[in-house]
Amino acid sequence: MKFFIDTANLEQIEQAYKLGVLSGVTTNPSLVAKEGVKFEDRIEQILQAVPLVESVSAEVTPLAITAEEMMAEADELIKINNYDKNITIKLPMNIAGLEACRYLTQKGVKTNVTLIFTVNQALLAARAGATYVSPFLGRLDDISEDGVQLVSKIAELFRIHSLDAQIIAASVRHPDHVTRVAMAGAHIATIPYAVIEQISKHPLTDQGIEKFAADWNTTL
Ligand code: E4P
Repeated sequence: MKFFIDTANLEQIEQAYKLGVLSGVTTNPSLVAKEGVKFEDRIEQILQAVPLVESVSAEVTPLAITAEEMMAEADELIKINNYDKNITIKLPMNIAGLEACRYLTQKGVKTNVTLIFTVNQALLAARAGATYVSPFLGRLDDISEDGVQLVSKIAELFRIHSLDAQIIAASVRHPDHVTRVAMAGAHIATIPYAVIEQISKHPLTDQGIEKFAADWNTTL
């Protein structure tokens, strides 16, 4: 399973990129709003900050309701950074989003169909040519459903039908989510920077480092 970072915060993206573990970045309108920056400017900055990743997701705005509006926004977005191949257009999982997905797929543009909450939605998105599908497990857990089980079912379905779309486990909230979606067959987990830090840690690792440091001080 690969890691994407789920943020529009440039410092966090740059820090995670330095670790060499990052294969991509996902953003959404809420994450961009949190940074108080202009959307297109931030996408351009991100694309420049992480040249070697496979994907940077830029979502069409909530103002784009029809497929035509989504396609028009996407056409503008892909011009950023000179049609960088890493840019991935994130589209909502609805009828207009599927139509826009097919249009972009035919143009050779990567797509990420987002806000997926059922296996059927994932199947439709994959058939529309989505490069990535994003089931939101944390939000399902929030309403007492099993988000990881959804990821597992989508992975099984994609295997049975040899579908190429990659599953991005999204709305990942804590380390246990990361382990469980990896075991469930997600191709990617997109995670906040805080979760990257959490999964790097273990109390016995910290204790071990302290003990080595203390012992080192007693060497001749
Ligand atoms: C994924 O692409 C989304 O940006 C994200 O994972 C949503 O997570 P949330 O449910 O914590 O807002």
